[in-house]
Amino acid sequence: MAIKTIITEPNKILRQKSLPVKQVGVEEQRLMDDMLETMYDANGIGLAAIQIGVPKRIIVMDISKSGEKNNPMYFVNPLIKDKVDETSTYEEGCLSVPNFFAEVNRPKECHVEYLDYEGKKKKLKAEGLLATCIQHEMDHLEGILFIDYLSKLKKTMIVKKLSKQKNRPDRIIV
Ligand code: NI
Repeated sequence: MAIKTIITEPNKILRQKSLPVKQVGVEEQRLMDDMLETMYDANGIGLAAIQIGVPKRIIVMDISKSGEKNNPMYFVNPLIKDKVDETSTYEEGCLSVPNFFAEVNRPKECHVEYLDYEGKKKKLKAEGLLATCIQHEMDHLEGILFIDYLSKLKKTMIVKKLSKQKNRPDRIIV
């Protein structure tokens, strides 16, 4: 397993549409292992392959609470089959939009079909945090970031600040 660099906004790669996986093989499993390690290292609860520059429809998540046993989840080619009209609101962040958080409304419940780590077909009824997290990650597969749901003004401000952060020289502590 290896920790990969997480791509941050603004970057065109994040706007790419990810492609379906034909078969879950050793290469895909290795990618999922790397994604999980990268996500844990960054203290995230979800990561899409495109965030480490791989345009494949693969997501890893772990929404277990700190102190609880790890509960990694793997979603390959996820599809939302059904969702409710009722929404829930969470303050969302994203490993590709570091240090910014904003409230986003999303359907409170959704039914997802996907392939698991072994390539087996699975169905999941997601609610609450799980539903929000999977929808956030599935947006990444379409090149959508949570800041796209904010007002144009707010989004522009965030992207501007992120660009400035990027242009800073490397910080060294000696
Ligand atoms: Ni994200």
